[in-house]
Amino acid sequence: MALNLQHNSAPAAVEDRRAILDNPGFGRFFTDHMVKVDWTVADGWADGAVIPYGPLSLDPATMALHYGQLIFEGLKAYHQPDGSIATFRPEANAQRFQRSARRLAMPELPVETFVDSLQALVDIDRSWVPSGADTSLYLRPFMISTEVGLGVRPADSYSYLLIGSPAGAYFPRGVQPVNVWLSTEYTRAAPGGTGEAKCAGNYAASLVAQAQAAAEGCDQVVWLDAVEHRLVEEMGGMNLYFVYGSGPNARIVTPKLSGTLLPGITRDSLLTLANDLGYVSAEAEISTEDWRLGNESGELTEVFACGTAAVITPVGEVKSAAHSWTVGDGKPGPITMQLRQALLDVQTGEAPDKHGWMHTLVAAE
Ligand code: PLP
Ligand code: COI
Repeated sequence: MALNLQHNSAPAAVEDRRAILDNPGFGRFFTDHMVKVDWTVADGWADGAVIPYGPLSLDPATMALHYGQLIFEGLKAYHQPDGSIATFRPEANAQRFQRSARRLAMPELPVETFVDSLQALVDIDRSWVPSGADTSLYLRPFMISTEVGLGVRPADSYSYLLIGSPAGAYFPRGVQPVNVWLSTEYTRAAPGGTGEAKCAGNYAASLVAQAQAAAEGCDQVVWLDAVEHRLVEEMGGMNLYFVYGSGPNARIVTPKLSGTLLPGITRDSLLTLANDLGYVSAEAEISTEDWRLGNESGELTEVFACGTAAVITPVGEVKSAAHSWTVGDGKPGPITMQLRQALLDVQTGEAPDKHGWMHTLVAAE
């Protein structure tokens, strides 16, 4: 879809932008433009435009504000050694956005329009892509219902929006291990629910458990299955991996997709990347008892979380109502750090892109 371009006549001052790019943090600053494409029953997707970044004007009775038809995605753009700017597996995010839309009874955005929007925003705001180590431009596509009214039903109009935010480390402590709380009081998702969808409500429902984790001295919540609170599902905004053994014979295992956890693109990529590095990778059911006993026997050597925002983050300590234990020696494990580097090397163009995962958004000048 061709996107009309309306330049921001009052972009951030160059020195302000530079100061932000030197220390972006995560999700605190936004670029000069955004993309907006509207959908109506009559016209489908239309009126796509790149416009100045700014507030949305919404009627207080806008359906999204009441009934939560709101889905989102997250991906990153990275400078490449040849001067181009590229992103990682954007079609996979576009497809997941379509699946989320279906689950929330929202219209599906064509994959091509999703990818075109990334290209248009990163093209115009290319000066916002930071170049320091472990930095990127985080891209946040999202869709809201815009019909005005209080009847509970799928809305008849929607807006797709894309904003960009320069990003450094997601966790302020960088790649230091996070401590996790196994939540048995709250559940994130139940069979038939919205666990597989990237919808705002899943995150709203997680916050009280995150607060409980913090009260227990933990950084993050680990979600367990809704029925028995026994099987490990995922963590906050990340999937989990368990490393068994060490050295060339190590095996990495991630909880299998059960319909209640988010099918992460990082998770999926690591199944392949681990094989490339000579490790066996698998998807399996993992219970909290497997975790505790595997740790006790020494068979389980490392645990890490993975996702777009936080890349790969080691898990250090585990705490539940009944038990607490340290994963391995509590420090970032060698396989965790090797996989992290291998993934970042592909994303930043330092390693060959064997699987065609990288997608150029802005060509080298
Ligand atoms: N799980 C949840 C709940 C998430 O929010 C995310 C982040 O997007 C992930 C897992 C990891 O997904 P991805 O690797 O596609 O970023
Ligand atoms: C991401 O990794 O992109 C996420 O969406 C996780 C979190 C910031 C919600």
